[in-house]
Amino acid sequence: MGERVLIFLVLVFNYLSVVVAVTVTNDSTALTSLRECWQNTPPNWKGLDPCGDEWDGITCTNSHVTSISLLSMNLTGQLSGDIGLLSELVSLDLSYNKGLTGALPQAIGNLKKLSILILLGCGFTGPIPDTIGNLPRLTMLSLNSNGFNGRIPPSIGNLSKLYWLDLAENKLEGPIPVSNGTIPGLDMLHNTKHFHLGQNNLSGTIPPQLFSSDMTLIHVLFESNGFTGSIPSTLGLVRTLEVVRLDKNSFSESVPQNLNNLTNVQQLFLSNNKLSGPLPNLTGMSVLSYLDMSNSNFDLSDFPPWFLTLKSLTTLMMENTQLKGQIPVSFFSLDHLQTVVLRGNQLNGTLDIGTPNSQQLGLIDLQNNLIRNFQQSNEVSNVKIILADNPVCQGTGARETYCSVTQPNISYITPPSNCVPVTCSSDQISSPNCKCAYPYTGTLIFRAPSFSDLGNTTYYTTLAQSLMHSFQSQHLPVDSVSLSNPIREAIQYLELTLEIFPLNQDNFNRTGISNIGFVLSNQTFKPPRIFGPFYFDGQVYQHFSDNEGEPTKSSKSSNIGIIIGAAAGGSVLLLLLLLLGVYAFCVKKKAKKAIEASYNLGHSNSSIPQLKGARRFSFEEIQKYTKKFSEANDIGSGGYGKVYRGTLPNGQLVAIKRAQKGSLQGGPEFRTEIELLSRVHHKNLVSLVGYCFEQGEQMLVYEYIPNGTLKDAFSGKSGIRLDWIRRLKVALGTARGLAYLHELANPPIIHRDIKSANILLDERLNAKLADFGLCKPMGDGERDHVTTQVKGTMGYLDPEYYMTQQLSEKSDVYSFGVLMLEIITGKRPIQRGKYIVREVRNAIDETKDLYGLQKILDPAIGSGGTLKGLEQFVDLAMKCVAESGIERPIMSDVVKEIENVLLSAGSNPTAESSSTSTSYEEVSKGSSHHPYSNELFG
Ligand SMILES: *[C@@H]1O[C@H](CO)[C@@H](O)[C@H](O)[C@H]1NC(C)=O
Ligand SMILES: *[C@@H]1O[C@H](CO)[C@@H](O)[C@H](O)[C@H]1NC(C)=O
Ligand SMILES: *[C@@H]1O[C@H](CO)[C@@H](O)[C@H](O)[C@H]1NC(C)=O
Ligand SMILES: *[C@@H]1O[C@H](CO)[C@@H](O)[C@H](O)[C@H]1NC(C)=O
Ligand SMILES: *[C@@H]1O[C@H](CO)[C@@H](O)[C@H](O)[C@H]1NC(C)=O
Ligand SMILES: *[C@@H]1O[C@H](CO)[C@@H](O)[C@H](O)[C@H]1NC(C)=O
Repeated sequence: MGERVLIFLVLVFNYLSVVVAVTVTNDSTALTSLRECWQNTPPNWKGLDPCGDEWDGITCTNSHVTSISLLSMNLTGQLSGDIGLLSELVSLDLSYNKGLTGALPQAIGNLKKLSILILLGCGFTGPIPDTIGNLPRLTMLSLNSNGFNGRIPPSIGNLSKLYWLDLAENKLEGPIPVSNGTIPGLDMLHNTKHFHLGQNNLSGTIPPQLFSSDMTLIHVLFESNGFTGSIPSTLGLVRTLEVVRLDKNSFSESVPQNLNNLTNVQQLFLSNNKLSGPLPNLTGMSVLSYLDMSNSNFDLSDFPPWFLTLKSLTTLMMENTQLKGQIPVSFFSLDHLQTVVLRGNQLNGTLDIGTPNSQQLGLIDLQNNLIRNFQQSNEVSNVKIILADNPVCQGTGARETYCSVTQPNISYITPPSNCVPVTCSSDQISSPNCKCAYPYTGTLIFRAPSFSDLGNTTYYTTLAQSLMHSFQSQHLPVDSVSLSNPIREAIQYLELTLEIFPLNQDNFNRTGISNIGFVLSNQTFKPPRIFGPFYFDGQVYQHFSDNEGEPTKSSKSSNIGIIIGAAAGGSVLLLLLLLLGVYAFCVKKKAKKAIEASYNLGHSNSSIPQLKGARRFSFEEIQKYTKKFSEANDIGSGGYGKVYRGTLPNGQLVAIKRAQKGSLQGGPEFRTEIELLSRVHHKNLVSLVGYCFEQGEQMLVYEYIPNGTLKDAFSGKSGIRLDWIRRLKVALGTARGLAYLHELANPPIIHRDIKSANILLDERLNAKLADFGLCKPMGDGERDHVTTQVKGTMGYLDPEYYMTQQLSEKSDVYSFGVLMLEIITGKRPIQRGKYIVREVRNAIDETKDLYGLQKILDPAIGSGGTLKGLEQFVDLAMKCVAESGIERPIMSDVVKEIENVLLSAGSNPTAESSSTSTSYEEVSKGSSHHPYSNELFG
């Protein structure tokens, strides 16, 4: 019932949209659609004019939406493909809304003016659509910290203006795409400064052509993936590099020596790989401050003397790297040294740190080495030295402080600035300026800082100052910021909690949060260089000034109530119908979540679907191809209209299904059919050439299948004689097409109308499944069955589905079983009151040759000894029509079994049918059940 109402609404809408489109712009259509698909949109998103009504988070130029910034708002729902209607959109930032889930729609590729796309820290899943490569102006692409999977689309290589590429912390897999002349790849991104691909499941070797001297990269962050093979020496050609993270992968072999050419690199991470061979000589890296090569199998003899030339070094991490010999005392006099971690090596002799030059030297961790003596110097009390598990800590020495492994505890919080903190009521917090307020909170994550001394508060005060400076120069209402809880993550990221306090009030409004969030998400804020690449992970802001007393959104049902109430009043009927259509679409969409991901429907409310793969024809064109729908080209009719033959300018024959004008019947079926046909491709499925939705017409253009339907072949109408082998091949082809729909299409598709009238025979008598008007794609949560209005054709209808209304693939299997019986008997499923399934079941006598079925077999099938495998075929058919769906086989098993039958009948199931037949023309005309027609309940 509910479903029927909704479909009706969509239909009404479809037919009005042509009229409505005159007054309502694409922009308002898109935004009202987004509003209906999301929860927790800003309360002032009312009416139909986002620009005129100044909706929060929306910026317009000349009545067109140019920017959408909705950060940390707890938006939930999916991103509607209608976003693709915003032809003037330049910037889209929906960061920090974990409730935004589902796939990123293909229609994102329609936003030709988009320059900034930031969906940081949302809940998006599924593959990144390839259409992302269709955004010629894109400069900023941040999809990090979502659940995206699949491969990195090669089309990203087409984004020649891209400056920032961040796909980190997703579930992306496969190799990094590089171009090969036909296909684009990331090696083409010569203007990109940032490759942030860390913490995914990427794999394979890094192709050497990824890097070249034409590139201008400064950050290459590939940490924590599954890359294998050697580190390409071409990396050494990218002289602009400042940060390189290749750690936590499975790189093997030796490190290319020419990394030494990268004289601008400050942070280099090669740890936790399977690297071997000689240590690269990094003497040329004069600004290198952070070097991590832990857990590698380098061939090392003595402590490499060139370490002493790294004048900027703050941090050396070389745990478990086979380091041998004695550390020269001069190493500890490097001017900026902060942390030295050389655990688990074979360092020996005496440890002498002399008098370090660096005030910041805080930790020397040499656990688990072979050090026998420690030369205690004066004035080094602020350095924590750890020598546990060395010979020096055995026996009596074990009590020395340097034999304990406790590391200094770091804690920090921005102190009050010359004021006394106040006690705040409820969950307000005292700001550094000692005022109670609701701060905007989140985490700053630095992926490769150049320092390691977390105890030096100078870093935090510098950072806080630069944040304040950035907010103030953007005129944002920020009173102060507080930093706290510095921690070093396992993967060596530095994390800090950031609280941002509102200026002169208790809380922020939505515009304030979005603008502040955007300064951080868009990298407008640049921290001091020592902090390296960063991102901000904002929390949902819970205390918007406009939230008080008012629920952020009335419930869906009351919305509909209001709309219907107003519609009865009649004043703004058209506009309300628009809303209703959008609403109906969103509800429908929820039920079909999974499809949305793979459909390429640019937008939904318009009656004109936008599809890839299928061509759009104008009405004039179709008129020309069918000679003005001439009588001679009329090749059949069905409940919804007629079928015409046409000839395209290139000579290709097509069949054109034309809905009867003015009749709404068939509308949804048409949509379903194009949507499905444009994304399924299989040699046993009829293919869609195009469509025409113009001047109130709905027409589908198919490939022309010359030999009519299987039904016509049985009835003798088409003059095609089908012997046993040909019938088996038709059954096999049909089964393969169906197995594809059930098991390979994504989401799986249930055909719902398998019958001989929907199986077409091509010039070689290959079966092609047609008529997808009743198809039902399965959504995510409905893998087992969906409950729907019972549709199909009597005689083929699964009794279980009929009774329970629960549709599953097994309903198609039942219909296919009926078809198999039809194939051997040549009889219609219900003929003169007799039901083919019962007839065959009663007639089977397993003791007899051919199960004693000779009497009811189609005489045209052949006879006696030529019917090899018939019993097997009948057994299979009876399994398919089993009472209960669970007992029926799945289609891929049916395919295998029919292949076996063909083999035992002496034919090769993999060979294409080579028999041909003519005699189609005269018989197809006038058939009331044309192949492309759609008969409901016969
Ligand atoms: C986000 O919104 C949902 C309802 O849509 C609500 O249940 C949840 O508590 C909200 N979360 C926050 C952090 O406000
Ligand atoms: C490029 O790669 C694609 C897919 O890997 C392949 O189909 C194509 O033939 C290749 N082109 C060239 C010129 O090698
Ligand atoms: C880079 O390093 C290689 C090998 O270490 C060296 O032969 C080459 O001259 C260097 N290239 C430049 C441009 O300095
Ligand atoms: C490292 O390279 C420098 C010059 O680039 C050279 O002077 C030095 O001897 C090398 N050191 C080692 C240990 O190979
Ligand atoms: C330290 O190790 C090196 C290299 O393994 C070795 O040549 C040297 O003799 C050792 N020195 C001491 C004092 O054990
Ligand atoms: C803290 O860091 C700053 C900047 O690197 C440095 O100048 C200062 O000496 C350090 N202070 C201490 C106590 O280490």
